[in-house]
Amino acid sequence: PVLVVDYGAQYAQLIARRVRDLNVYSEIVPSTLSTEELLAKDPAAIILSGGPASVNADDTPVPTADLFDADVPVFGICYGFQAMAVALGGTVEATGMREFGGTALEVSGESRLFEGLPVGQSVWMSHTDCVSRAPEGFTAVARTAGAPVAAFEDLVRRHAGVQFHPEVAHTPHGQAVLRHFLYDIAKLEPTWTMNNVIEEQVAVIREQVGDRRVLCALSGGVDSSVAAALVHRAVGDQLTCVFVDHGLLRAGEAEQVEKDYVAATGINLKVVDATERFMTALRGHTDPETKRKIIGREFIRVFEAAAREVDAEGHIEFLVQGTLYPDVVESGGGTGTANIKSHHNVGGLPEDMKFTLVEPLRTLFKDEVRRIGTELGLPEAMVWRHPFPGPGLAIRVIGEVTSERLEILRAADAIARAELTASGLDRSVWQFPVVLLADVRSVGVAGDGRTYGYPIVLRPVSSEDAMTADWSRLPYELLARISTRITNEVAEVNRVVLDITSKPPGTIEWE
Ligand code: XMP
Repeated sequence: PVLVVDYGAQYAQLIARRVRDLNVYSEIVPSTLSTEELLAKDPAAIILSGGPASVNADDTPVPTADLFDADVPVFGICYGFQAMAVALGGTVEATGMREFGGTALEVSGESRLFEGLPVGQSVWMSHTDCVSRAPEGFTAVARTAGAPVAAFEDLVRRHAGVQFHPEVAHTPHGQAVLRHFLYDIAKLEPTWTMNNVIEEQVAVIREQVGDRRVLCALSGGVDSSVAAALVHRAVGDQLTCVFVDHGLLRAGEAEQVEKDYVAATGINLKVVDATERFMTALRGHTDPETKRKIIGREFIRVFEAAAREVDAEGHIEFLVQGTLYPDVVESGGGTGTANIKSHHNVGGLPEDMKFTLVEPLRTLFKDEVRRIGTELGLPEAMVWRHPFPGPGLAIRVIGEVTSERLEILRAADAIARAELTASGLDRSVWQFPVVLLADVRSVGVAGDGRTYGYPIVLRPVSSEDAMTADWSRLPYELLARISTRITNEVAEVNRVVLDITSKPPGTIEWE
């Protein structure tokens, strides 16, 4: 792999993704690894990321000089560029002159990094220190007003570095610079494709599972659907999926899992219709946390019962989880498979159920998972599904959950989703919750008569990771169509309102 050494930049994941976009496999590693530990991973190249520290301060993590003699190409970015300069005997100075944001860069003369790119170009900068003298063996190949050496390269040892951030979209030629490093300086081949990933994972899963049996809790979401499809490609009918229909899904979703998904994959699916059970358990409850706890508890009971039934037919040792790479990176690495007692991803499995995890997506980003889903032939609606909370529509009916209220919300939600899709804007919003204020009524007029109906809240949001969010500025015409259709077609609703709160202070969901 190409190792991205993370010096604490929020950019490390982005760098890894950009490298992968060039069809070269890349992983993120912490900056606490020694040169020996780095080299033990047999890297094809190493990228030193940006970071908040100053290379001239005490106790800052820097690579040691022997890293550069190991015949492994190294590329430094921002802090990593300066750390590289210092390690190799160049000079880094505190200029006091800060460059932040779009900055004019001038390419000086011949260079492999900037080959074929304009001599003058804009790059994204964020630094106060700068490299004032390139280390021996390196040629300075670009400058900015605040950085006399803004890029350097050593074609013999296959090293290079840049002061700016090539990984961000604000550096228009950044991806080209990265490509020049990977292909032309490091001499790597672009061989990493989703097809290879599928083949590789299939081999890994076969090796891990052998002829034993595997269970998967399918939620209908992108991650568990793709993970299960991949495991099925590897071990076929040794996999059984359990889909708990808690009756809180949106219109058509249970059918999508039961029919489209099975048709596309041929997966062995056990569907448990537990609608009655969940509705009974939720009766009379209005407190959001109580509703969530009830759903979590019932989910475990139903899944456990189903798993035991499947298990009775033959012993099951493995459980599929749709864990993604950002979860792995953020929890500090991880070691592959683990024996678990309980896991939040499937709602906290009971103590006495012990499985070994199969996590075929743990090296992948969400967009890569979607591409794998597409390659595996999953329906587009499934591959591009927006995130949907485990407790489902129960936390979008504000107040007590009843079947009648769920029906009203489902009808309104189906209209909003259909109109969003028809306008081609599905992929421009992160999520589009539709909420029923079931304990509120307002007066309206229809025909010649007075109405007294429920309000529906539209909550379209934009986000990167759901930690923060902003309300999506959907076109007025689209909002108008949704409002007209909902108030015309859903008899119980006479008012549609738009939620224009960011997160924070609001959350995405209302409960
Ligand atoms: P909030 O409402 O906290 O939601 O801004 C953040 C993201 O998490 C989703 N969400 C959940 N997902 N189980 C889940 O799997 C849950 O209990 C749950 N609650 C919220 C929410 O839809 C949004 O994407």
